[in-house]
This record gives sequence, C-alpha cells and structure tokens, in this order.
Amino acid sequence: MAFFSLPSLTHPIHPTPVSSFSLKPLICSSSPGFFSHPFRPTRVTNQKSHAEASTCKAQKADHHQNPSTDDSISSSKSKCGKTSAGKFERRDVLLGLGGLYAATTLGTKQSSLALPVSPDIFNCTEATETRNGIPINCCPPSAAGYNDYTPSASEVYTRMPAHAVSHDYVKKYSSAITKMKNLSMSDPRNFYQQANVHCVYCDEGYPQLGFPDKKLEIHSSWLFFPWHRWYLYFFERICKNLLDDDTFTLPFWQWDDSSGMQIPSMFNDSKLSLYDCIRNPKHLPPKVVDLAYNGTDLPIDPNIQIQYNCCTMYTQMITQSSTPDCFFGQPLLGGNDPDPGAGSIENIPHNCVHDWVGDPSQPNNEDMGVLYAAGRDPIFYAHHANVDRMWYIYDNVLKRKNIEDPDWLNSSFIFFNEAARPVRVTVKDSTNLAKLGYTYPDLPLSWLDCKPKARRKGLNPTKSAPKASEVMPMQLEKPISFVVERPKKSRSGKEKAEAEEVLKIKGIQFDKGETVVFDVFVNEDDTSQSNPCKAESLGSFNSLAHGHSMKSTTSQCFAISEVLEELGADDFDSILVTLVPRRGAVTIGGIEITFVPKS
Ligand code: C2O
Repeated sequence: MAFFSLPSLTHPIHPTPVSSFSLKPLICSSSPGFFSHPFRPTRVTNQKSHAEASTCKAQKADHHQNPSTDDSISSSKSKCGKTSAGKFERRDVLLGLGGLYAATTLGTKQSSLALPVSPDIFNCTEATETRNGIPINCCPPSAAGYNDYTPSASEVYTRMPAHAVSHDYVKKYSSAITKMKNLSMSDPRNFYQQANVHCVYCDEGYPQLGFPDKKLEIHSSWLFFPWHRWYLYFFERICKNLLDDDTFTLPFWQWDDSSGMQIPSMFNDSKLSLYDCIRNPKHLPPKVVDLAYNGTDLPIDPNIQIQYNCCTMYTQMITQSSTPDCFFGQPLLGGNDPDPGAGSIENIPHNCVHDWVGDPSQPNNEDMGVLYAAGRDPIFYAHHANVDRMWYIYDNVLKRKNIEDPDWLNSSFIFFNEAARPVRVTVKDSTNLAKLGYTYPDLPLSWLDCKPKARRKGLNPTKSAPKASEVMPMQLEKPISFVVERPKKSRSGKEKAEAEEVLKIKGIQFDKGETVVFDVFVNEDDTSQSNPCKAESLGSFNSLAHGHSMKSTTSQCFAISEVLEELGADDFDSILVTLVPRRGAVTIGGIEITFVPKS
C-alpha cells in the first residue's frame, strides 16, 4: 500500500499572493489598540452606531492584506515539484496522517467519501460574494508548512465566569488583547488575524484537502464543537504567551445562569481592549439576553426572559441532546458538501447570542451577528468558552456519549500557535480537557429544573391538515401546518431508553449569507409566538449570517420522545407540525421521523 509520509512538516507551496486592501476600517476610538477592524467594508464607515458609548470612526489602513509570515517560503520550493498535499491521492494522504487511520476502517468504508475532513490551507480563496460587492479578505498570512501537534499539559487551569472575576484579572485579560491588537498584521497572532482564522474557516476560504471542489465549513456539522475548542485553545495560549503567564485562562460568558445573562461588564467598559463599539445598543447591560433571539425583542419582563432562557437551556441541553448527532451536529465526511446540519447548541443559543450582540444598524449585523466578523469582538471568545463548557457539561455532568466514528476523531484542522507557527491538530485530541490543560468549575445548573410543560395535554389537531408529503417541498413563506406520520407509537420504556424519536427537517435550502430563522411547533394551534417554556414550542431553525453569499442545503434534528410524552401524544399515530418563518427566504425539502440510538 502506498504510504505517503505527510508529516515531514513542510508542505511547499506557492504563497498566497499579497494583495493590499483599500477598505477603510472602523475602529472604536476608545480602544487602546492601535488599529482595529482592518477589513471592514467601506459602507460601514458611513453609518453611525446608536451606542452612546460608541465613538466609532474610520481610520485609513495602510497594512497589507496577506503578508507572508514565513521567510522560509522562498526557500521551500519542493523537491517534489509543485506539490500541494491536495494533489496526492486522498486516501494515501490520509494514511499518512501519523498512522491515524486504521486499514480496517478504510476496508469497511470503500467509498472515498467516508474519510475524515481536513483543510487545504495552501489554496485559500477570498470571499467575494458580499452584499456590497466588497471582498471580505480573510485568508490568514500564508505559511510554508505545518507541524503536527499533540497536547500534553502537565497542569490544569480552570476557566472562570466573566462576570465573577477580579479587577486584576480583567486588567490582565485586557492587556493580553491590547498586546494582540498591537502585533504586526503580518503576525498571525495579531487579534484581527485571529478573527480572520475564524472567518476563513466559516466563509469557505479553504477547500477540503484532497477535494479541491469541496469547500470546508466548520459550522453546521459535527466539526463545530471540536473546531471551536481548538480555536480557543490557541487563542488562550497566545494570551498566556504574551502575558508570560501560564496560569492565565480565558473567561466564559455564563449566559446559562441568571447571574450571567447580560453582557459581562468587562466587555462593556470602553476604556478596555475588551470593548467593541459595534454591538446592538439596545442590548447593552442591564438588558437580559434572549437565548432564543430571532431578531425581534420580546415585549416581556426581564424575569420572564430569565425563565424563558432557563427553559431554552433545558430544551437544548437535555431534550435536544439525547443523541450524539442531535447534540454535536450531523456527520461531515471528506468530499461531502458542507452544512449537513447543526447540533442543538450551535443552533440555539449559540447562533442566537451572536445575533443578539451584533449591531443591526451595520450592513451585516457586525461584529458578532455575522460569522465573518464575529471574532473581531472580544466577547466572541467568552461566548465560545461557554459554548465549549456546554460540551464539558454534556460529558462530565450529563455523562452522555461523544461521537465514536473515526471519521470525526481523525478530522483535523490547522491553527497558528503561540509561536506564530501553523500546527495541525485532530478532533481526537480535543476530547480530553486534562490534556489540553484547562477545565471548567462545577457550578450549579439551574436549568436542570426548567423542563417545559404542555400548554394543553392530549390535543390532537391533525384532522383537517394535509400530509407532509402533500406540501413538500415548499417555499416557507407563511406559517404552514401538516401531519407527520410516526413509524411507531406507544413504545415501551426500554425502547425509549435505547432510541430517541427524531423529527428531522431535511433539504432546508437558503443562502447562508443572511440569517435565516423559522420556528417549529408540535400539536399547537396558536403559533403566533414561540414560548420556550411550553412543550408545544419544539424550537427553531437558526442559521447565522456568514456575510458571503453561499447556497446551503442543510437539515435540523429535533428529539421528540420526551416532548410527545409531555404533550400526552405518545399514543397518537401522527403529529401536527407547524413551521413559522421568522427571517430570511427558505425552502424545505422534506420531513421524517426516525429512531436513533441515544447518547
Ligand atoms: Cu464559529 Cu460562534 O461561531
């Protein structure tokens, strides 16, 4: 069997062309960073943020877009000619991944599609299909090669809730961000280059290694949790390095607890580097976050919002996380189209919190409300630390199962480390926090007691509605109700313990340049407003804008065993599903109920 040895650590390449950019960036003048937002579209500079604290102004940029970080590029002309890893037989390349891939696995998966995903970082392309036609330009500084990296921490440090840390800690974290912002733009550890790393992996900057025609996207699939864990890991190590303090850890925005349900004060102090002026001015403290935000502020009392959030957390972490696919997201194999489907937490509250923080007066709801720009707001890293903490809770508190598929475990990503060098890491090495050298404190989880209740038990409103097959596929332009048959009803306790009843909405087609939201109800005849504390409100589909027009076809998984019990519908032959469009244009391909092994 051919055995191509990839990890000789140098992948000679043609460096990405250096293009200068002419966009006028927007900065918050109060920010101590020397420059900010280097790649902001010009249109933004004509708009004023409503934020009182905002003193945004345009600054002329004179940096280069894609400076080469690596002086060895010119000397790295390959002995093997114009080799880029993607030109090798995909299977051989993967066999070369440090022996990661067992031959038996290949044997059982004959198809070349059944392979782990990795990025081809040497063929980055910029996102050009933006709303205003100005390219996003987020390819990071080019590199000549990369090393494989396996974490092996000797100490474990605990990340702390952002709202409960000391004044000294805040000063320290802010100085780390200042240092990152002050690094040269040719340094991939520069704060805005780090934001670009997120952008390039979300706006399909990289093709998949071995599949030049297939783009890589790390949202809307089972790559979401591990990719973002690694991204924060290196961001944290850059902070440790710049602070010369190994004990430093990132804070997490504990939005799942009532004590943490507003923007933590460290991010709202315009004197600190942790501040970003481009946020929704209506959502600054003391406004309580809406974890299921769909673009409209609910006219409710803050205490009710806290209650709603508690129910949303229960639904997403308990009800909707009962199978590995529903929690992590759907499998993405090498050669597949991106976006097989987001997991429960990525969908809600992850996307909703992004959207809630972003400034709707910006062209694309920048910064947090659009994936290409989200990493430019320092709150991103605290938001994602809490998303990452949900995975920790899933493993360590709920004791649920991780994915065991080798295609997940052997998928890999490339990041810049604290020495500004590119390193390749695997999903497998992200699953053990002790090896990564950090953990989370075991805090009380109030949402464990927030199980949604039925508004009315035993309602069976299916009689006059059409069957799903009669209305699908369809453009979702107005609320629509239809009947979905259940392949099995009245399952025994044992059957229910083994397999989850999953309602899967398939062939969801839209342009992921923009945010798209629709609500999903079960056996409900009043769908004017979704209420997370009512079991009839099954949840929503929420796809956060990318800022770069890309056609997407995806799916969304809803676990319904527990919901149907609560609704008193367990013995019904069918259920009534209602879809209510809230934002964006979307087509639905189909819907089905299947039974999936539990986690
Ligand atoms: Cu990669 Cu919160 O997004």
